[in-house]
Amino acid sequence: MPAKTFYIETFGCQMNAHDSEKVIGTLLAEGYQQVETPEAAHLVLYNTCSIRDKAEQKVFSRLQQFKRDAGKGKLFGVLGCVAQQEGEKIFDRAPHVSLVAGSASYTRLPELLVQLETGHRRVTGLSLDTDETFDTPFTRRDNPYRAYLTIIEGCDKSCAYCVVPFTRGPERSRTSESVMAEARRLADQGYTEIQLLGQNVNSYRDPSPAGWDFAALLGRIAEIPGLRRVRYTTSHPRDFVKAIVDAMDASPVLCDHVHLPVQSGSDRTLAAMDRLYTRAQYLERIEWLKNARRRYSITSDIIVGFPGETEDDFEQTLDLLDTVQYDSLFSFKYSPRPNTAALALPNRVTEDEQQRRLAILQEKQRAIQIRLNAAMVGNIEEVMVEGRNHATAQWIGRTSSNRTLNFSDPRTEGLNGQYVQVRVTRSGPNSLVGESVTVV
Ligand code: SAH
Ligand code: SF4
Ligand code: F3S
Repeated sequence: MPAKTFYIETFGCQMNAHDSEKVIGTLLAEGYQQVETPEAAHLVLYNTCSIRDKAEQKVFSRLQQFKRDAGKGKLFGVLGCVAQQEGEKIFDRAPHVSLVAGSASYTRLPELLVQLETGHRRVTGLSLDTDETFDTPFTRRDNPYRAYLTIIEGCDKSCAYCVVPFTRGPERSRTSESVMAEARRLADQGYTEIQLLGQNVNSYRDPSPAGWDFAALLGRIAEIPGLRRVRYTTSHPRDFVKAIVDAMDASPVLCDHVHLPVQSGSDRTLAAMDRLYTRAQYLERIEWLKNARRRYSITSDIIVGFPGETEDDFEQTLDLLDTVQYDSLFSFKYSPRPNTAALALPNRVTEDEQQRRLAILQEKQRAIQIRLNAAMVGNIEEVMVEGRNHATAQWIGRTSSNRTLNFSDPRTEGLNGQYVQVRVTRSGPNSLVGESVTVV
């Protein structure tokens, strides 16, 4: 176990995945070497998620596995949302941990690492009082074709169920100049797809005098030579303005997909969640997308069994699914989280009832996806090739609408990162199958 080796495991959302790429880059620049197993590492890092209780438990079960390695020259660090949420309490639950740092402190990582390596037993980075974003030239990106780019950090909303404002701190946008410079650099390096990230990516507001809003930023990024696909996630419905749809209509580089989490179809539940929009306002945004110049995939997140959710509220969510016809959906049982306002709400929904509602919702959504995907059979879709499934001898591609499209092609290598035209021949609830129609 040579000194200055590290292992990192990442949980949670794309923001966390991208933070890990930046943390890895920072560690490499500090002279560390990345290894593939925790056993081989001197420093073991977990970049954690606490969005639901199950996610939070994962890190503690990982740490438990290595309890006996404490004091044998191995160091353990907890990063990310559980670190920010639990803070120094982590040292009580897992005494062999010596580094606890939330995402707002990663710019201090080199300094924290020096403290660790010079024998400080416990090191923390937990301040949320920052207007910093973690801009680093050292990012070690995982994928050579598709790059994440964080444009806004934190969240200023206060949805009653959600830990993110506590774990990621207040909203802060990068300047348009620094975002544009990074996007141009990525294009120069050969990336053709960029995914803009933010907890509420569309709440972006350029803090520099240029003052661009999200729609303006989208339009400008789409003009960067070399970029073929620009995606963004996650959009908050309250801040999803018509100008965003207009910007997308104006440029095919902006992908045919919007993730617009609704959480519930009931106005009563939306108000209890403090989501800041009504069902009618949400549906107005959906109308903009449905009336747009091209067909956009619309996807969403839904929470079932929020405290006080009645059968009638739930049925309104089912009804919303019928109305919107989502292309794909992430659905969750409400999970009570520390610090959040919903903890104080009466009329919790039982676990069994949550499970029942989740199953009904997922069954309905499955039927919708089977139908929508079947309607694509016969279409020719452009995919970006993401890899090869050796077992099926098919290439794995992704459409602009964010569907997985597995396809056959005479070529057995060299397609990764390429754009290929594929005729859809079969469909399932979660993916499509096809064959390439061009040989480049
Ligand atoms: N900023 C995004 C959501 C980020 S969290 C937005 O506002 O839409 C990703 C998803 O996790 C949420 O959309 C929500 O559906 C789910 N989620 C968040 N907190 C949850 C909780 N306490 N229990 C269950 N699901 C939760
Ligand atoms: Fe959480 Fe709401 Fe902020 Fe999304 S908008 S991160 S759900 S508090
Ligand atoms: Fe999880 Fe934090 Fe992302 S709680 S979902 S890793 S912002």
